[in-house]
Amino acid sequence: MHSPAPTLRPASEADFPRIAHALRDWWRQPGFETELAIRERVAMVPRLWLQHFASTSLIAHVPGDDQLYGFLVGFVSADRPDEGYIHFVGVWPGARRMGVGRLMYTGFFDLCRARGCTRVRCVASPQNVLSVDFHRGMGFTLEPGPESGPGGPYVPDYDGPGIPRIRFVRPL
Ligand SMILES: CC(C)(COP(=O)(O)OP(=O)(O)OC[C@H]1O[C@@H](n2cnc3c(N)ncnc32)[C@H](O)[C@@H]1OP(=O)(O)O)[C@@H](O)C(=O)NCCC(=O)NCCS
Repeated sequence: MHSPAPTLRPASEADFPRIAHALRDWWRQPGFETELAIRERVAMVPRLWLQHFASTSLIAHVPGDDQLYGFLVGFVSADRPDEGYIHFVGVWPGARRMGVGRLMYTGFFDLCRARGCTRVRCVASPQNVLSVDFHRGMGFTLEPGPESGPGGPYVPDYDGPGIPRIRFVRPL
């Protein structure tokens, strides 16, 4: 990794194009690289997230360095004010396992605590075992589900027909 280490700043709408490119290029696990998978992933983070949730979303960067090291798109729930929600996260493949994901999650936990939240939730595809390892490493537990796969329990059709999800929760 370049020196100095990445630091956090709030996201802005200007970050959207680079995030959209990252959504295409950064996911290299088997099954995540097909054109269909890429289009579905990009469609999950349209520009509106960086227009309406930028102040609760985070960018990992090194000042003076153009490289995007990581992004976290999240919010404090409007309907559950004690709950933060992480919608999407990604770390540049050139900086994995160096604590960038931890830096962004810790920053989001602090942001949520400051706004009165007592827990954070998120979901992932059951086939994303990396995401399960990362979330376990960040202190999340898996919520119960009627089915179980390699990553743990999940809920079939959670996000629509044929779209299962593992559900994570972490107290703050
Ligand atoms: C998942 C992801 C965000 C992790 O980011 P990262 O910066 O590499 O993670 P960190 O270095 O901060 O790791 C934090 C902890 O997560 C766990 N972890 C992270 N990567 C892991 C891996 N490949 N295998 C096992 N555990 C892992 C570890 O407990 C780690 O702590 P440790 O390094 O002290 O052991 C990153 O791999 C990524 O962007 N992956 C592709 C996109 C994706 O799948 N995103 C998740 C969608 S929900």
